[in-house]
Amino acid sequence: MQLMTNTRQLLLALLATAFLSACDQGGRDPHPQQLQSKRLAIFKQFTKALEPMGLVARDRRDYVKVEFAEQARALKTLATQPWVYFSAEGNYRPTRAKPEVWRQPADFKLAQDRFLAAVSQLAQAADSADLPTIRSSVDEVQKSCKNCHDQFRSETVLRD
Ligand code: HEC
Repeated sequence: MQLMTNTRQLLLALLATAFLSACDQGGRDPHPQQLQSKRLAIFKQFTKALEPMGLVARDRRDYVKVEFAEQARALKTLATQPWVYFSAEGNYRPTRAKPEVWRQPADFKLAQDRFLAAVSQLAQAADSADLPTIRSSVDEVQKSCKNCHDQFRSETVLRD
């Protein structure tokens, strides 16, 4: 009987752990339309798209015009996509989106506009073969990601 209780407690503990990790970001999304998972998937593509351009900007990869221009275009296509998933319905936890996203929509929109402008600028510079301009355009994009994250993304996952 004692053994049964221990086994049961162990099982419960295991289930609780599994449940907690399922609630981590990237785990089970409680929303029927998976709004948070959708925006996170796009943000992950942001990082993937920007990375090779960052390497070129820091002289750790050769600039190949056609390739670079294609990467910049890919980022420009992605750049408009996550925002629709921050709708009123998208305001639920767990998330790293700060409440300010929904409390200060005009500021959040401004941060998006700055980012979109920086990405457009990068797409224009992309096939110029003008490396100093390319470098500063990549910098501006990275700064605009960080600027929005500083204001609107929490360091830790927010839970209820
Ligand atoms: C206008 C604001 C804004 C801009 C611009 C922005 N992000 Fe984010 N980003 C957010 C918010 C808010 C979250 C948290 C979303 C959530 O948890 O639901 C986030 C989450 C992420 C995540 C998901 C994983 C994590 O760390 O939480 C990655 C990766 C990411 N952003 C990368 C980028 C990159 C790279 C750029 C620039 C190319 C960028 N973001 C531009 C607001 C922004």
